[in-house]
Amino acid sequence: MKTILKAENICKSYKIENRKIEVLKEVNFEIAEGESVVIIGASGAGKSTLLHVLSGLDYPDAGKVYFYDKEIFSQSDDEISLFRNEQIGFVFQFHYLLPEFTAVENVAMPMLVKNVSYSKAVSRAKELLSEVELSDRANHKPAELSGGEQQRVAIARALANNPKLLFADEPTGNLDTATSETVKNLLVNLKLKHGLTMLLVTHNSEFGKIGDRILKMKDGQLQNG
Ligand SMILES: Nc1ncnc2c1ncn2[C@@H]1O[C@H](COP(=O)(O)OP(=O)(O)OP(=O)(O)O)[C@@H](O)[C@H]1O
Ligand SMILES: [Mg+2]
Repeated sequence: MKTILKAENICKSYKIENRKIEVLKEVNFEIAEGESVVIIGASGAGKSTLLHVLSGLDYPDAGKVYFYDKEIFSQSDDEISLFRNEQIGFVFQFHYLLPEFTAVENVAMPMLVKNVSYSKAVSRAKELLSEVELSDRANHKPAELSGGEQQRVAIARALANNPKLLFADEPTGNLDTATSETVKNLLVNLKLKHGLTMLLVTHNSEFGKIGDRILKMKDGQLQNG
């Protein structure tokens, strides 16, 4: 299978006052088209930092990230934004839905950014909300939704522009066990249905089951799980 994303020697540290925290220490990673990989690591291990770098949201201090043959960070900021909006989907640890917009508007947003017409965007957003079984909540604002519903809207939004690669950062972090199970199954089904490649990071080893491959994140590095 073709490699969709490849990271080479990624380093990232944060400086706080006079202290430097090395979060990613020469991380190497590769994922093939259609594969699902789960990275498991403790809180503070650097999972979100890694996902943000791999998805072009945050620059590494050193190292390269290739999406197919293109090195993400060799592009301009506008090109990186375009890449993020059109090629990948991202489900954040905290959903980051826009509070003043309804569920259907939140899901339509990435399409509107891409200049899809309002009626087309809304009609596809409704389809996606139906896929995550939230048709009856389309006109609710995030504050009027439960945590699990908010996360399902965020998943629908991540799929808006038909990404090939979906990143999920602790997608059930704030949910109870039963709701986590629903969201987990939903991700598995959507992955199969849409032929997605999926990279999910979590502290919850339960998620290992949904990966073709499991990696552990420890001491700023990835190890085979
Ligand atoms: N913007 C920042 N400035 C300074 N330090 C940061 C910043 N972001 C993260 N860190 C530190 O980097 C380390 C890794 O953080 P990160 O958020 O990647 O961990 P994580 O594995 O996602 O944890 P969690 O499971 O709690 O979400 C932590 O020690 C954190 O305090
Ligand atoms: Mg995190």
